[in-house]
Amino acid sequence: MCGIVGYVGGQSALDVVIAGLKRLEYRGYDSAGVAVLADGQVASAKKAGKLVNLEKALVERPLPSGTTGIGHTRWATHGGPTDINAHPHIDNAGRVAVVHNGIIENFAALRTELTDRGHDMSSETDTEVVAHLLAEAFSSRGDLAESMRQVCGRLEGAFTLVAVHADEPDVVVGARRNSPLVVGVGDGEFFLASDVAAFIAHTRSAIELGQDQVVELRRDGVRVTDFDGADADVREYHIDWDASAAEKGGYDYFMLKEIAEQPKAVADTLLGRINAEGSLTLDEVRIPPRVLRAADKVVIVACGTAFHAGLIAKYAIEHWTRIPCEVELASEFRYRDPILNTRTLVIAISQSGETMDTLMALRHARDQGATVLAICNTNGSTIPRESDAVLYTHAGPEVAVASTKAFLTQLVACYLVALYLGQLRGTKYGDEIRAVIRELSRISHEVERVLETMEPVRELARSLADKRTVLFLGRHVGHPVALEGALKLKELAYMHAEGFAAGELKHGPIALIEEDLPVVVVVPSPRGRSVLHDKIVSNIQEIRARGARTIVIAEEGDDAVVPYADHLIRIPVTPTLLQPLVSTVPLQVFACELATARGNEVDQPRNLAKSVTVE
Ligand code: F6R
Repeated sequence: MCGIVGYVGGQSALDVVIAGLKRLEYRGYDSAGVAVLADGQVASAKKAGKLVNLEKALVERPLPSGTTGIGHTRWATHGGPTDINAHPHIDNAGRVAVVHNGIIENFAALRTELTDRGHDMSSETDTEVVAHLLAEAFSSRGDLAESMRQVCGRLEGAFTLVAVHADEPDVVVGARRNSPLVVGVGDGEFFLASDVAAFIAHTRSAIELGQDQVVELRRDGVRVTDFDGADADVREYHIDWDASAAEKGGYDYFMLKEIAEQPKAVADTLLGRINAEGSLTLDEVRIPPRVLRAADKVVIVACGTAFHAGLIAKYAIEHWTRIPCEVELASEFRYRDPILNTRTLVIAISQSGETMDTLMALRHARDQGATVLAICNTNGSTIPRESDAVLYTHAGPEVAVASTKAFLTQLVACYLVALYLGQLRGTKYGDEIRAVIRELSRISHEVERVLETMEPVRELARSLADKRTVLFLGRHVGHPVALEGALKLKELAYMHAEGFAAGELKHGPIALIEEDLPVVVVVPSPRGRSVLHDKIVSNIQEIRARGARTIVIAEEGDDAVVPYADHLIRIPVTPTLLQPLVSTVPLQVFACELATARGNEVDQPRNLAKSVTVE
């Protein structure tokens, strides 16, 4: 949430910062702003709305050129999305500019203190106090990095800050607590950003900043310290994807590109994890096997789409390992005082690796002695750093706010973990594990086949553009798929959409069914638990009898559903537990097309942002 960029080097800071903000706009698009140091002054511009508004303003009133600058794209927390509340925030003398991601929880007390000392505040934000505190600290110390360390000692909450001071024209200073910040290492130039995507066009070398660290960038190097000024270890790493991965590549939206990338993402997530004999080798899961063997409970914590991946994982974990598995919304987890101990294995699933709710949940779990395994898509992000081990999904950068390819790869990673536990604990025979792995290995091809048959789904979506409600039903692993289908539709098409367990219908939701109401039904394979299949066929008949327009997702050859399907979407035959890898795809395409037909912004749905770094 909120994207931050900083630059010092030989190029036009404004150009570098604006290009970086374009790549970070997925993190927030309520307002955008920049500040550059030029001629011993801070020159800044900021505008409510998307980055394009700022760009227009800069054409009308260009900033002087400079080679040190910062920028911000905002997801509003304190104060509405107005020009005044946009970042950067600047002190009264106009010497310091600061941008911020996070929430400063004690800002009200600091604000009162500062106004009592004669500072004038112009915005409603929590961030503005930092500009004033930095200005005060700088006036007595004359060193921006030192001033930042001092100010950080006074702040509570989550804050990643990047600042410049007119008296230090070749310096950018950043500080990190809880929200992400990465340094890009160039040749005679350095970058700071919330995400490597902001500077990937310039360098593929990066330095991760740790919790409670301050970094000072100069043209000739970087210095990283803790908040007390002690030098910290600096670990440079190579970013293993290039700028093209973060571009639309000919697609109208990132979401379309990311949906299309799913076969590769699924295959990449399996890569290197299966040995020549067809068994699993999860070397990176550096949790001692004795700990995994002793685990008597698995708890999965995640949010949104990642939570739905967790709900599906529960079926596989319990079926393959016979360990009880709970799945919990990360935002609720620590507040209900969950029962955790050294025999609990917690799995934290997160695409971004920065979701604050999930981070807080895993911290709570570790405090109680549980072992935490992260499933994450973002190298070096906070959640894997704070976990005992990580299994990375290899989806590549996911830019569209609505998660698609990350979800499928989270499922693959969950299946791998479940099988690995089964392998270690001996609850699955080697040949059984190899059989599932063989199925998983061909799934990427099946996802490809689903994608090739999506035109009727798009056509159907367009025909439903004026509907107010769509319901989704599923049983077994199809239930979380229904929840995911509904979430995608809510967030992209802004329609009322709900997912239900089909068996729950008769306990209330069936009252919602009315003439021509579209209801999507995810049908389990008739070859799995046939009783499940038969029950859902009855459910389809029940809703159809009450007027629903049934949209049925069923596997090839399942003819029992044909008489009751107003629209039939075929998916390839897959093992019961793996079906979500193919049944989710039509729902993603459906939501994307419906949103487009309604004229919505697919990649940047209203009110949302990717990477939710506030609780
Ligand atoms: C929905 C979506 C969100 C995220 C959720 C968790 O399409 O993208 O619901 O899944 O905010 O984000 P991560 O996985 O980054 O922790």
